[in-house]
Amino acid sequence: MRFYIITILFFLLINACAYDELPLCEINNPSFTECIKPIFTDNCVSCHNQQQPGGNLILETYYDISQAVKNGDVIDRILREHSDPLVMPLGSPKLSESEIQLIINWNENETPNN
Ligand code: HEC
Repeated sequence: MRFYIITILFFLLINACAYDELPLCEINNPSFTECIKPIFTDNCVSCHNQQQPGGNLILETYYDISQAVKNGDVIDRILREHSDPLVMPLGSPKLSESEIQLIINWNENETPNN
C-alpha cells in the first residue's frame, strides 16, 4: 500500500515537472528560435503582422521582436493586470508567468539571436 502511494506521488511529481508549455527552454538563457519566437507567433502575430500591424507594431521577425522588447514596450504591456485595457495579448488571457520570465531574461541577456 505504501509502495502504491509512493509510486503515485512519484508519477504526479514527474508529470508536474514535465508539464510546461515550453519544455525545451532554458529559463536563464532562453533560445530565441526555440522559446521566444514561438511565444510571439502563438500569442501576438495574429494582430501584429505586415497586413495588420496593431498599434503600428509588427512582431514577426527577430529584428521586430528584439526592438520592441529592448525599448520596453513589450515588457510593459505583458506585465499589466488583466483588467488593464492596455494589457497584451489583447482580449486573451495573460501570458504565463514562465513565458513572461523567459522574455524578461532574454532581454536581460541582450536579446541574443540564438
Ligand atoms: C487581438 C489583437 C492583439 C493581440 C493578440 C496582441 N495585440 Fe498588441 N496591440 C493590439 C492593438 C490593436 C494595439 C494598439 C492599441 C494599443 O496600443 O493598445 C496593440 C498595441 C501593442 C503595443 C504597443 C505598440 C506601440 O507602439 O504603442 C505593444 C508593445 C503590443 N501591442 C504588444 C503585444 C504583444 C507582446 C502581444 C502578444 C503577447 C500582443 N501585443 C498581442 C492588438 C493585439
